[in-house]
Amino acid sequence: MLKKILKWTGILIGTLAILLLIFYTIAYFNIESRANKVYSVKKQKLIIPSDSASYELGKHIAAIKACDDCHAGGGKVLFDENMPILSINSPNITSGKGGIDYSDEDWVTTLRHGINKEGKSLWFMPVKETTASLSNKELAALICYMKKQPPVDKTHPKKEIRPLGRIISFLNKFPLLSAEELDHNAKYVDDIKPEETAAYGAYLAAICMGCHGSNFKGGPGHGPGQPDIPDLTLSGNMGKWNSAQFVTALQTGKTPEGKILSDFMPWKSFGKAHNELELKAIYLFLHELK
Ligand code: HEC
Ligand code: HEC
Repeated sequence: MLKKILKWTGILIGTLAILLLIFYTIAYFNIESRANKVYSVKKQKLIIPSDSASYELGKHIAAIKACDDCHAGGGKVLFDENMPILSINSPNITSGKGGIDYSDEDWVTTLRHGINKEGKSLWFMPVKETTASLSNKELAALICYMKKQPPVDKTHPKKEIRPLGRIISFLNKFPLLSAEELDHNAKYVDDIKPEETAAYGAYLAAICMGCHGSNFKGGPGHGPGQPDIPDLTLSGNMGKWNSAQFVTALQTGKTPEGKILSDFMPWKSFGKAHNELELKAIYLFLHELK
């Protein structure tokens, strides 16, 4: 009897191990081929200005789109080599040693399509939430600003995806491949007027989607020890706030209920970077969502 049980337990464990191995092999090669896919996209022609007004506009866009949070000073560690999912640094995007050598066309293609110079998808770069649908004028101004950054010499270790990262990316639980999130045939608006309207707010609020979700309904926190991500629509707590309270919450981190927002909500950079008109427009947009 015992012998039989042992035999069948052995067979069961062996079968499970083989199934797991097959699953992992599929996940491995799936991510390998998606990460190495070379995209052929229709390249947008955009003239990059170099005047000071464009530079100032670009600087503002870089602040509200958080480019500087990740890339200033030649980039930084995002996930270090002890992380179980992947290790990656935000790269050095200056022209210094370890940086990039981009033509104007390369800049536009990368920021519209989320691909690098080889045509392969960037990893974990929030293109959809930042530059994919910027107006042509703002994208050109942003590139003007980026190109004028002083060269920094900084070389980063190679990025690497680990087995757990492959599995959760395969199951679509992790936004590894930025190019996959984009519409590569999108049409772009030439210019958009900053005004206190819900439509302008919708344009600005793309940056909030990465955490609050594309429907702004929030969800569970991003990891152990992190707060849940609140619902920003009328059905959430914020539905009871007025515009001035929203502006104060983003500028001071203090909500009308007296709660102090943690740093998992980047209010310190967002509250400072957005001007009041922009915050009010975002409020109007969120306050229309059921
Ligand atoms: C959350 C951090 C983060 C933010 C915010 C961010 N990036 Fe990135 N960026 C990355 C990472 C990570 C990569 C590396 C992708 C890779 O190597 O696969 C990257 C890659 C790039 C590249 C390609 C560099 C190369 O090696 O070819 C450019 C250009 C770039 N980012 C510009 C920007 C601009 C402009 C903004 C603001 C609109 C921005 N990024 C916002 C993290 C970020
Ligand atoms: C990096 C992720 C992230 C991004 C990007 C982000 N948020 Fe948040 N947000 C959070 C988290 C996490 C909390 C909860 C913070 C806490 O409980 O301490 C939060 C809380 C809030 C709250 C408080 C809501 C309440 O009910 O108390 C508001 C308002 C808010 N976010 C607005 C925004 C807006 C507007 C944007 C875009 C400009 C944005 N957030 C972008 C992560 C993010």
